[in-house]
Amino acid sequence: MVKAVRGMRDILPEQARRWDLVEQKLTEVIRGHAYEAIRLPLLEFTELFARGVGEATDIVEKEMYTLADRDGDSLSLRPEGTASSVRMLQEHGYLYNQTQRVFYAGPMFRYEKPQKGRYRQFYQIGAEAYGLAGPDIDAELIGLGWACWQALGIESMVRLEINTLGSADARKQYRNALVSYLSPLKDQLDEDSRRRLATNPMRILDSKNPETQQLLKDAPKLPDFVDGQSIEHYDGLKGFLQDLGIPFRENPNLVRGLDYYTHTVFEWITDDLGSQGAVCAGGRYDGLVERLGGRATPAVGFAIGLDRVVLLHELAHERAVEGAADVYVCVLDQQLNGAAMQTTQALRMALPSQRIRLHMGGGNLKKQLKKADASGAQVAVLVDQQSADDGGLTLKHLRDAALGQESLSFDAGVDRLRQG
Ligand code: HAM
Repeated sequence: MVKAVRGMRDILPEQARRWDLVEQKLTEVIRGHAYEAIRLPLLEFTELFARGVGEATDIVEKEMYTLADRDGDSLSLRPEGTASSVRMLQEHGYLYNQTQRVFYAGPMFRYEKPQKGRYRQFYQIGAEAYGLAGPDIDAELIGLGWACWQALGIESMVRLEINTLGSADARKQYRNALVSYLSPLKDQLDEDSRRRLATNPMRILDSKNPETQQLLKDAPKLPDFVDGQSIEHYDGLKGFLQDLGIPFRENPNLVRGLDYYTHTVFEWITDDLGSQGAVCAGGRYDGLVERLGGRATPAVGFAIGLDRVVLLHELAHERAVEGAADVYVCVLDQQLNGAAMQTTQALRMALPSQRIRLHMGGGNLKKQLKKADASGAQVAVLVDQQSADDGGLTLKHLRDAALGQESLSFDAGVDRLRQG
């Protein structure tokens, strides 16, 4: 047997039901905030991510699935959606002198070490806003995340951390100061941090290594380098979050692993999934459109890690997801198989939002009702000679014994099923 590739996700039917529910709720909330859906390609030129996400980031340095196209072009499976979103909107003239609010959903690919909550194929729902420079849009996006958690009933399981990286200049100055401080201490740093010192020093702040964290105690602090305009923006954001009643914690060590951020960065974090705590992350990336060849355009966004949010939903609602069918059609006699198919087809036409399953594989009524019960259906439709002859529906209520069984005309039966 050929097995699945390590880290690539198989989502089985019971899990897929929860995934559908979570995705549906999230997209409903995002659409409700007037964000427009876009669909991004899975493959892009490798250069897009090298320039967009940053050459020195872990993602580009060692986590991309890169392949040579038949004509020799270097392509990569998208590790995230922001660079592609900028590329696409820019390429089609959607960023010129206008504002855009968009969202996308789908698989992303990173060659990371798989564990619970961390996969090589994982799913994101991302939202991005372009052309808006004020802290009000940062707050809207954070409020959108909050509305998503509320819609899923997981708001008590996540907390918000925010920080400001300041302008691109401030960030550069801080970076230099950090390197000057840490370089003489290089030998005392953990291995990852030593490597990052040359490539992406601000990520050292993220290190989980206790000795490295000890060394960082006396390091230059990012907030001391942040410029006045950024502080004003940040204060504006904090004010709006207070207005919205969204609790937050300021974390001056929050720097994020992608190169494109300036000013606001934020993460929604949970303690319920072990070490993979970030369920959603984002921030402002005012320099990216220009870096990718467009005009300077303010931009801000986030991406929800769907795999982790589905795990949280499962913890919060162990049994909240219903079964595979709403209505289960039983066939009382093999001779009536054709009639049962017709009845099922007519029900599916009449009740397009319900999941209607036709029993297959024969067996007596008792066996069929057992299957109906296991499917989670509320009602079984019993196709017998009489209903086949008169075109009516015999309904057997499976969850409420008091309702028993009733024979109705087709239309009356459909009305009954519609009421649930
Ligand atoms: P990111 O922090 O790399 O940001 O990813 C966002 C979220 O995706 C994470 O918080 C996490 O929930 C989920 N995630 C990332 N890697 C994995 C993985 N290997 N397995 C499971 N889940 C994962 C971005 O991707 C940015 N594009 C976010 C953004 C949008 N910033 C501005 N706009």
